Parts: sequence; structure tokens; C-alpha cells
Amino acid sequence: MMKYKYLRSSDRLPNPSNAVHKHQIKQNINMKKQESGTEPKLSTKTNKDSSSALQELFTDGIRDLYWAENHLVKALPKMISAATASKLVSALESHLEETKTHVSRLEQIFELLGEKAIAKKCDAMEGITKEGEGIVEETEPGTATRDVGIILASQKVEHYEIASYSGLIQLATTLGLTEVGDILEETLSEEKNADTKLSDIAGNEINYKAAEEA
Ligand SMILES: [Fe+2]
Ligand SMILES: [Fe+2]
Repeated sequence: MMKYKYLRSSDRLPNPSNAVHKHQIKQNINMKKQESGTEPKLSTKTNKDSSSALQELFTDGIRDLYWAENHLVKALPKMISAATASKLVSALESHLEETKTHVSRLEQIFELLGEKAIAKKCDAMEGITKEGEGIVEETEPGTATRDVGIILASQKVEHYEIASYSGLIQLATTLGLTEVGDILEETLSEEKNADTKLSDIAGNEINYKAAEEA
């Protein structure tokens, strides 16, 4: 019993391994102080890790868009051949050409990032284009109603692209990727124009024609 009498917490010997560890940390801090002449930043490693995780998230977003844009190069011709109104056909045709440029801009971005151009399947874009194909199947060929359906589906595509490009532009700014951000801006403005053009075609002409159809 007697031996426990003296084992109060204040009497405990310091843990030797703790003492060594603390000593090493203090020594490292002193060494860093001497190197830089300023207070050491103990969270440097954590910052570096989170910044590369963010960069990876950004690159992943580019891969997602790369899949989406390539998919649209294949999907848009189907919409073009299903459309009737000449204004709609020419709007989709010119956006198909722009979409091919969007693909090459993303390849340029992969190069700037020092990454291989790899596409990551974009389930969202696959779903939106499938929905568009479904609308074409469910509507009569040569009708304004089908054209309205094509516009609705195409605007969903544009809005997905606008959301994706806008988010990545914001992230490019955070990561200091100025040149990459500028390239993304060029595409974003074309997506916005395509969306506005589709709204105008629907609002000025096709929706009214479709309303008159039986
Ligand atoms: Fe695009
Ligand atoms: Fe687009």
C-alpha cells in the first residue's frame, strides 16, 4: 500500500519519449527560425496537401467537361437532323462547330496543366442528352413541337455547361491559373450566347408555331 502513497500525478516522472519529441519539435522550430528569420508556419504541410487536392478536383472537372464536350460533338448532329426550323438548324450547326473548338480548348488546358487529355465519364451530360433523344422519339418528325423539345433539351445542356465552366473559372482564379481561366472564359461566353440564341428562337417563333399545332 505504501508505494502508492507517493504516486500522485504531480510526482510522476516525465514520459521520456514525450520529452524527446518535444525537444525535437523545439529544435526544428529554432532551425526554421534561423533559416527564414520569421516565425515558422507549422501548418505548411497541411496547406500543400489541401492545395494539391483542390488542384486535383479542378483537373477532374476539366476531365468531366472533356467527356461532355466530346459526347456533344456526337450528340448534336442527331439533334440537327431531327430539327425542322431553319433558324434552329443553323443555331445548332454553328454551336456544333463551337463545341469542336471547346474540345480543343480543353486539350490546350490539359497541356498547360501538364496533364494527359483524359475524359472522365460525365453521367449528368449522358442523362441530359438521353432525355433529348427521348423527346425526339416521342414527338412527330417535322413538327414545331419537336423543335420546342429539342430547344428545351439543348438549353439544359447549355445550362449544365455554363454551371460547370463558371465553377471552374472561379476555381482557376483561386488556384492562380490565370491563363487557364481565360481560356475557360472564352468557352463560357459561347455557351451563354448559344443559350440566349435558343431562347430567342423559342420565344420569337417556334413556341407560337407549336401552340398552333394540334
Ligand atoms: Fe461546350
Ligand atoms: Fe454548349
